[in-house]
Amino acid sequence: MSFASLPKGRKVALTTLGVLTTGGVGLALALNQSVKASDLELHPPSYPWSHAGLVSSLDHASVRRGYQVYKQVCSACHSMEYLAFRNLVGVSHTEAEVKVLAEEIEVVDGPDDTGEMFTRPGKLSDYFPKPYPNPEAARVANNGALPPDLSYIVNARHGGEDYVFSLLTGYCDPPAGVELREGLYYNPYFPGQAIGMAPPIYNEVLEYDDGTPATMSQVAKDVCTFLRWAAEPEHDQRKRMGLKLLMGAAIFIPLVYYMKRHSSRTPKRERYKQIFKKVTHGVTQLGRVISRQSFNLF
Ligand code: HEC
Repeated sequence: MSFASLPKGRKVALTTLGVLTTGGVGLALALNQSVKASDLELHPPSYPWSHAGLVSSLDHASVRRGYQVYKQVCSACHSMEYLAFRNLVGVSHTEAEVKVLAEEIEVVDGPDDTGEMFTRPGKLSDYFPKPYPNPEAARVANNGALPPDLSYIVNARHGGEDYVFSLLTGYCDPPAGVELREGLYYNPYFPGQAIGMAPPIYNEVLEYDDGTPATMSQVAKDVCTFLRWAAEPEHDQRKRMGLKLLMGAAIFIPLVYYMKRHSSRTPKRERYKQIFKKVTHGVTQLGRVISRQSFNLF
């Protein structure tokens, strides 16, 4: 039996039932949404990083300060196992400076002629020292939470440096009614809001070697710039290469256009052949320039 052939009373009843069910489901969905815990999570705003531009390089003075922050604050709990001291040379420090930094650490090496392991001062080729020998030891020291390796953290987290900056500066008191377990801290940017990392930075948490006032936001900005470089050491080269390609294209494209406009006397087929020849020649030349440049870079 179809809907149209039903008596009027049944029609009204069925329609009312339909409307009520739809409304009820809608209301239930809306209510469910409003009490979701993830609504307490804040999305980080996008900050105007000086390296955010299409052709802007990293701020290397900031990378240098960021290394100081990592070394003096974060490295107490976080490893950066993919970074070696030599990576800093020419980026944030001179070779002589990095040698001094490396020599401050002790590295177990060996075995020597008698089969014994020995310790020696660090060298340029050594990797950054780890705060804990293994993840279990790291958890025990941090109430069960594991401080992640920071080498690629800005690539590993949605929001990148905006997220890490917000996380570092975003600690606050929990809202009324939210109780936190011992050893957890409230941070609206952290998924779930309860993070096992105590607020690591505050105003004057360290004194910068270059005299920059170490406000909380300055410290967070510098360490984020450093972490961006760590996760993407090719950042500057990538943008420089992009700029060169753009400049190449700016010369090349008008040239092709000009050639096409001015070779109108030859028959069409010939003309296209010529253009094709010139374009392939141009591309090979450009390719040569680029490969020579990248050869210089690497
Ligand atoms: C006292 C130890 C300690 C110090 C110092 C410390 N952290 Fe952490 N950090 C932790 C622990 C523990 C976690 C894991 C928290 C969790 O999973 O609940 C963590 C997590 C993180 C995370 C990952 C958050 C996520 O989304 O998973 C980032 C990023 C981070 N720390 C950055 C830093 C930076 C940058 C510094 C230095 C300014 C720093 N931390 C200093 C202990 C520390």
